[in-house]
Amino acid sequence: MFKTFKLEEYLARYEFSAPYLMCSSDPQTMLMRDVLALASREEKEMWDNIDLSYTTPEGHPLLREVIAKQLYPGLDKDQILCFAGAEEGIFCTLFGILEPSDHLIVITPCYQSLLELPKAKGCSITTIELQESENWQINLNAIKAAIKPTTKWLVMNFPHNPTGQVISPSDLAELIQILDAHGIWLFCDEVYRLMGACDTVWADPVACTYPKALSLGVMSKSFGMAGLRVGWIACQDKSMLKKLEHVKYYTSICNSAVSEVISLIAVHQKDTIFKRVNEIVNHNLQYLDEFIKTHHEHFSWVRPKGGCVGMVRYNKSESVDDFCHRLVQSEGVLLMPGSIFEMTSNHFRVGFGRQNFPGVLDRLKTFLK
Ligand SMILES: Cc1ncc(COP(=O)(O)O)c(C=O)c1O
Repeated sequence: MFKTFKLEEYLARYEFSAPYLMCSSDPQTMLMRDVLALASREEKEMWDNIDLSYTTPEGHPLLREVIAKQLYPGLDKDQILCFAGAEEGIFCTLFGILEPSDHLIVITPCYQSLLELPKAKGCSITTIELQESENWQINLNAIKAAIKPTTKWLVMNFPHNPTGQVISPSDLAELIQILDAHGIWLFCDEVYRLMGACDTVWADPVACTYPKALSLGVMSKSFGMAGLRVGWIACQDKSMLKKLEHVKYYTSICNSAVSEVISLIAVHQKDTIFKRVNEIVNHNLQYLDEFIKTHHEHFSWVRPKGGCVGMVRYNKSESVDDFCHRLVQSEGVLLMPGSIFEMTSNHFRVGFGRQNFPGVLDRLKTFLK
């Protein structure tokens, strides 16, 4: 029923065998002991006394409270529902509660489950492809033209994987007006929110500005803690979260007790953790941008603004799949060809959130020579 998840299949094949990852979508992670060192006295006590039983299906109340307070101004803990990673939140929404009669508009290219799950449910879908010629920005006219009487949801992801572009506050405000006029729900995958270039202007989370919006967040990306498998959906409408919780009873039921406490400590210390991640991301982004400028006969790109991935155009006549294959075989450096995102242009995804990135990029430089 589900189409092969090309990206996860590609990563399963290479992620733990290719020595130099240059396409990862998550940034530098942290060691457990370094996170624990940030804990308050009360949090340390919680950590020492974790009861390894089932946890509450909605997520630990203190965790939901700190997520609301730190990340969604104006929302409270009951407007947050936790999941096992962002992927479970996507599944419960875009497979769990959709009806086959729903029409969806999905912005592509995208993380595959955002498109494939509603397809697997039998929904009708209009895709709107971001264009490099429009700097990969959302096209509001195309969205207006795609709306039908049966349109139930718009699904998008900003900061965007794989292009690294963001939605501007004015575009988001206009988009919400359009959706509101038609009573359309908005599912926005915001897993990269607040990570990225230091001069980025951030739109508010959609859940804070539109009552029919779901904001998807996770520990994996901006916090760099993918192994915790803790994500959440923020939404003003508690009855929508209740519906999602009922689907979650069929998937993970509840989160890992251990991961909840580590997440609680990390979200409390979000400023410290984001600062650390963003220093690495900004340093690498500058290094990579200079590299692309000096190798313009090979590469070009629209410089990313959010997250730690970007889409680079390979300007040679060789196919980008062949180029990526030669690179991993010869240097052990892994890029991700655009074909993984069903793109037919000669682009590859680069990930620049890891500490070892400058050294890995130097390997690519050697390869080009
Ligand atoms: C845009 C986007 N959404 C969701 C996910 C899934 O996140 P998680 O692995 O935390 O479930 C990813 C993972 O790469 C992603 O890039």
